[in-house]
Amino acid sequence: MDEPNPSQYDLVVIGGGPGGYATALYGASAGLRIALIEKDKVGGTCLHRGCIPAKELLESAAIYRTVNRAKDFGILAQQPDVDWGITVDRKQRVIDQMFNGLSHLLKSRKVDIFDGWGTLGPGGQVVVQGNDGQQVHLSGRGVVLAPGSVPRTIPGFEPDGATIVTSDEFLELRTLPATAVVIGGGAIGCEFASTLADMGTKVTILEALPKILPGCDSDVAQVVERSFKKKGIEIRTGVAVTGHTPDPSGGTTVSFGEGESIAVDLVVVSVGRRPLTEHVLVPGTNVGLDERGYLIVDEHCRTGEAAVWAIGDAIATPQLAHVGFAEGIGVVKDLLGENPVAIDYGRVPWAIYCQPEVSFVGHSEESARAAGIDVVTIKERYIGNGRAVILGETDGLVKVIAKKDPDGRAGQVIGVHMVGPWVTEQLGQGYLTVNWEATVDEVAAFIQPHPSLSETFGESMLALTGRALH
Ligand code: NAI
Repeated sequence: MDEPNPSQYDLVVIGGGPGGYATALYGASAGLRIALIEKDKVGGTCLHRGCIPAKELLESAAIYRTVNRAKDFGILAQQPDVDWGITVDRKQRVIDQMFNGLSHLLKSRKVDIFDGWGTLGPGGQVVVQGNDGQQVHLSGRGVVLAPGSVPRTIPGFEPDGATIVTSDEFLELRTLPATAVVIGGGAIGCEFASTLADMGTKVTILEALPKILPGCDSDVAQVVERSFKKKGIEIRTGVAVTGHTPDPSGGTTVSFGEGESIAVDLVVVSVGRRPLTEHVLVPGTNVGLDERGYLIVDEHCRTGEAAVWAIGDAIATPQLAHVGFAEGIGVVKDLLGENPVAIDYGRVPWAIYCQPEVSFVGHSEESARAAGIDVVTIKERYIGNGRAVILGETDGLVKVIAKKDPDGRAGQVIGVHMVGPWVTEQLGQGYLTVNWEATVDEVAAFIQPHPSLSETFGESMLALTGRALH
């Protein structure tokens, strides 16, 4: 690695995942000179071990479901079979294509990429321990820490890549298990359980809390639970796993609850992700770490060290790629003195791609009531939506939470929660409604195309005005 002139950069970014590369791309668009330090490949967890591969495998599951029911539509095809090796190869081709595109984009914006491990020392000094063995010192007008996160594990369930896996190893499996336990029924657990069950694996979810998808509105989580049961997924909530005993002939027996056990081929551990912040800070900086290892920041992602920001999964904000993008954009604006509006983390869009899909923004009914807000709610089901009937995917609903006005009518929309066909692509209107602080009356006046899945959102707004259409 050549020793660059340390003063040549406006921003030095540690970590090339969505947070870090978004900072680099947006900063470069604004004319800044950027150094981006990445120990592995730009794209990070999202591109290589997270969002993109997980959704690609879910798409294979969707194709399998479609071919399986093609006969209902008068399309006579042979009974489909799964070749998981081909599925995983295609997933890799998608990743490679996106990786090449991202690398090209960074290059065309003249972002300097340093292959190695970056650390921040006192005074904003960054040292790169290069993958080539060389050490490089960098400094800039600002430094952005975006080191990301890694899967959490449970004691006794250390991943071995074959029987016990986290999302990292799951996405590399070359064969499908006949049976699997998924520990943790959050976003990752539900996406993997959905993929496996659609592909024919017998899946059991073991969730410690009283319901799966504990962060979602209860009506939404219930729809997912019912659909999962229809797929043959067994869901056990309120249970703790206590250990497992490997079977010498393959697989393992997982112990849980009050003396129960289940023998399976594969255990997927999806119990959250922890920030990857060890070995990023050299002692002597004013960057703080909280007790869980997250980098401490203010509402503009500023750390305790002047001109050092931290973003993405390494700070205690929603662990979503698009939140990392938004934080990176905010940091660039802050560096440029453009007074960015702080992100309202209670109103970011969430999307979970299991089947049925889930998406939401803003308050759930439970969180609104817990916050002491008087609300009016409505649920409109996809069973009445012509497009959903055409698709043959009618499980699901749109639930809207609005503030109750003094006259008892529904006023400002504070939450939109969706479960059903393609709802991750339908959240946009709900996102704008909540973030523009629009009222039910304002949004109900807008026209939805017919027939379209988005009519269910429109119908829910109309119904909240007190006059429904269908
Ligand atoms: P999560 O926090 O969403 O869910 C973890 C689940 O595991 C929780 O329901 C928790 O109660 C349960 N759990 C924890 N310890 C347990 C134990 N010992 N036994 C049984 N259950 C246990 O974490 P997840 O699903 O691993 O995802 C990590 C992060 O990645 C999330 O914060 C999410 O924001 C993000 N993500 C987002 C996706 C999306 O938006 N589509 C997809 C995948 C991940």
